[in-house]
Amino acid sequence: MLTPLKLGVNIDHAATLRQARGVDYPNLVEIARLAERGGADGITIHLREDRRHIQDADVYTLRKTLTTRMNLEMANNPEIVRIALEVRPDEVCLVPERRQELTTEGGLDAAGQFDALRPTVAALAANGTHVSLFIAPERKQLEAAAELGAPYVELHTGAYANATGDELKREVEALHDAAAYGATLGLRVNAGHGLTMTNVKPLLDIPNLDTLNIGHSIIAHALFVGVEQAVRDMVAACAR
Ligand code: PXP
Repeated sequence: MLTPLKLGVNIDHAATLRQARGVDYPNLVEIARLAERGGADGITIHLREDRRHIQDADVYTLRKTLTTRMNLEMANNPEIVRIALEVRPDEVCLVPERRQELTTEGGLDAAGQFDALRPTVAALAANGTHVSLFIAPERKQLEAAAELGAPYVELHTGAYANATGDELKREVEALHDAAAYGATLGLRVNAGHGLTMTNVKPLLDIPNLDTLNIGHSIIAHALFVGVEQAVRDMVAACAR
């Protein structure tokens, strides 16, 4: 029996629109409220080191106003860890970050950065936040996440979203394998990046997936139908 997939709606790109003009609209509290009304199980925001979209004040304000779970994506950076410890989001997803990248391009090297990640995972967990690691769908990374004591992982679906032909088949298999292996390690397995209402379909029969975090394609669709309907449409696309 497949359990229903949950949807985390990433609203970073509503903030991108605001930051493009340095104004105070669109109002992110209202965007999040509409996403929740449309059926989001949680709201995801990424406080990047360069603050290109989400700002510190957004994190504090949304923490007070969200009625669903807050998932804060962030690099393992002392200044941002301090904010996360103060704000106490329901979940933190630790991601790799490079200043020049357009978006989070690769997974976190949980195995290679084990010693740097350990104190951050421990501090956030002790503070009541569930920690997730954004990793490539590879067994080595899943094992490192489990050893670090992170209860969740998020599988990076960016390579899957960009793949075609045989490579696409290999990426789907890698996601199936990683979700199944993660479950045997006791991890809750989420996935996200580059997902759309169309390319999400081949992932719907992966048994051990819990939550999909989707942002850019929902915000783009919202230009045509509004935020609430765009989220409703994605919820329907993720039904299984
Ligand atoms: N999950 C993680 C960890 C991410 O970094 C991002 C992008 O911020 C997403 C999900 C959402 O990706 P997209 O905006 O391509 O749907």
